[in-house]
Amino acid sequence: MGETPKTRLIITVDGPAGSGKTTTAKEIAARLGYRHLDSGALYRALTYALLKAGIRKSDWPRLTSDDLSGLGVRAEASVGVVDLYLGGALLGDELRTPEVTRDVAAVAKLRVVRIWLLDIQRNLGLHGSLVADGRDMGSVVFPDADLKVFLVASLEERARRRLLQDTGLHPTESEVVAEAARIHARDAIDSARELSPLRCPEGALEIDTTKLEFEEQVLAILTRVIDLTE
Ligand code: C5P
Repeated sequence: MGETPKTRLIITVDGPAGSGKTTTAKEIAARLGYRHLDSGALYRALTYALLKAGIRKSDWPRLTSDDLSGLGVRAEASVGVVDLYLGGALLGDELRTPEVTRDVAAVAKLRVVRIWLLDIQRNLGLHGSLVADGRDMGSVVFPDADLKVFLVASLEERARRRLLQDTGLHPTESEVVAEAARIHARDAIDSARELSPLRCPEGALEIDTTKLEFEEQVLAILTRVIDLTE
């Protein structure tokens, strides 16, 4: 007799900056009628709140969980998405400014930040039907996920895609070189940090998307989902 088909899966999509995790995870969630969690946005929301509150970077290593709670960042599960608020304001584009992108890896390596965000993320997965993307979704936050995916792509391709996504314009070679350097620096911090470093989780489906069309990578993942649910 075969295994009982699974329902309401937890699917994790991890990978380095610009590998297409968020767009892919969002699409998979939409096609399955699941909720999407962009965990990078949680780290960005805390970074934005710290910058907005004027807390100096040199003081960040001394932050406590009460300090983090006092910032007023909230995650709220909504239809298909997780909305992030600072106080009463819904957060969106302010999470993607160059200042937030520059400082987010420094916030994400703080132990207090990772612990503070852990319960929030796990609670969002309590009822399954979640596609969560980030750096440690499969390795730390949802180690028992039903399907773990790890996306990779060449540094140059990731830089090119990131610029196209942010500006809507095809970048010049010098813009690609500068963006690749920024992405490389962030990956280096994310991979070298002591807590929850960026890693391909054990047993993950690793997909190199450098030469793939978006639809091909989506279908590669959905094929695995169908194997688990039928
Ligand atoms: O995915 P995104 O590029 O928006 O993530 C921003 C930053 O948040 C990453 O560079 C990383 O430092 C941090 N992050 C993390 N763990 C996650 C998701 C994001 O440390 N699960």
